[in-house]
Amino acid sequence: MAEFSINIDRLIDIVSRGGTVKTGVDVRNDKGVLLLEKSVPIHSVNPLLVVKKYGGNTLPIDFSTSGGVWDKAGNPVSFYAENTIVKENPEKSLPESIERKIKEINRKKAEASEKYECAKKNIKKVILEIKNSGGEFDTGLVEDTVTDIVNFLALDDTAFSHMTREIFSYDDYLYNHSVSTCAIGTSALIRFNEKFSEIINNHLSTISIDTINSNGDGNHPASSFVYYLPQDIHDISLGYFLHDVGKVLIPENILNKQGKLSEAEFDIVKKHSYEKGMEILSRNKLDNPFISNCVKYHHGVLFQGEKGCYPTNLHPIEMPPYVKICKLSDVYDAMTSKRSYKDAFNPVGVVTEIFRKYANQDRMLQFILRAFVKAVGIYPPGSVLNLTNGQMVYVLDSDGPMVIPFTDKEGTPLFHKSDPIKIGESDENPENKLEIDRRHPLKSPIEVWDSLPEYLKVSVQ
Ligand SMILES: [Fe+2]
Ligand SMILES: [Fe+2]
Repeated sequence: MAEFSINIDRLIDIVSRGGTVKTGVDVRNDKGVLLLEKSVPIHSVNPLLVVKKYGGNTLPIDFSTSGGVWDKAGNPVSFYAENTIVKENPEKSLPESIERKIKEINRKKAEASEKYECAKKNIKKVILEIKNSGGEFDTGLVEDTVTDIVNFLALDDTAFSHMTREIFSYDDYLYNHSVSTCAIGTSALIRFNEKFSEIINNHLSTISIDTINSNGDGNHPASSFVYYLPQDIHDISLGYFLHDVGKVLIPENILNKQGKLSEAEFDIVKKHSYEKGMEILSRNKLDNPFISNCVKYHHGVLFQGEKGCYPTNLHPIEMPPYVKICKLSDVYDAMTSKRSYKDAFNPVGVVTEIFRKYANQDRMLQFILRAFVKAVGIYPPGSVLNLTNGQMVYVLDSDGPMVIPFTDKEGTPLFHKSDPIKIGESDENPENKLEIDRRHPLKSPIEVWDSLPEYLKVSVQ
């Protein structure tokens, strides 16, 4: 084990409670005067106060020799779980694989951010065109934008997680919402298509309408499901991108109203999908059903009896999987976005809520939700989380998640590199167990830029 620099106040606290510290390394002041001898156990706070007086805010402990810290009962104190006090030697660099990972995350984020901004600029242009013309827009520009997004998201499993994080810092809601819903939906669709299409095909071939439609409304044939071809995915993605386009024709004072909408106002808002959205599509001769179904039914009914849906003429079993994904992505993005009148909800809470509401309704929805949750990635690499102990951590890998702490418990930046740790596996002592503070939304590193150490900001050439 390497040499660590431990916060001196923490050590003073341990010793004052009857604990013992042994450095395992000679500690000298900057004039070379020996302050602590490496093999002498410290049972009193005085020597530590002397080190502190000489400006030592941390004390080196070499755990690989005779160094260590013990509590009153003689049990070794582990500092892994409370990374605020484990500051590695600043000269020590992170393992090369970790450095590479951080660099890769930053490279993907930069690319995603560029795509995101470009898509946002284009939807802004389209919305302005629709406003000016009453409905027409440059469909070629939208096609190109969506192609770019789909290609990026198809690159690998983590592409999406880099695409949507920046939404938390902006408030151009409709633009961000169009791009994000498209990114979330497309990413979920790609996974759904790859992983579950076969299972669902088998499932649908054995299912009887009566087993699903318990209310006896047997007029709806079970929709068959085929693998979505690349061109289908592109068209569906276009549908996701344009799903709310009808909102451009809804009066802004109603759309942005902060209080509760009256029934009459809500009736007007509802029209953005099945009426205004469809009107815009038809004015631009976009009659592809993949696109129009997303626009028309993205507030449709996912299970029998679901409240607040519109239009209601499509039975849940008739609702194609890609439209269900559109609806879930729409809900997810709306809830996790920051608006002028509300904070962003934590994605974990949102996913849990979506799961609770939909997962038990039917098996098809379960398959879709699995793809959706996989795509959303609860703790995306490159995002920032708060822990219940007050620290902020940078997510290196969503599996775990594996994180790098970069502040102490007071939120003060650590300027030394910390070892990556896996949440939940941190310590044998439950009191030191690290947990994610779910009351806080995920943040993008940009939001905590000032607290972020240089090695996490590492720019991408
Ligand atoms: Fe909508
Ligand atoms: Fe929407």
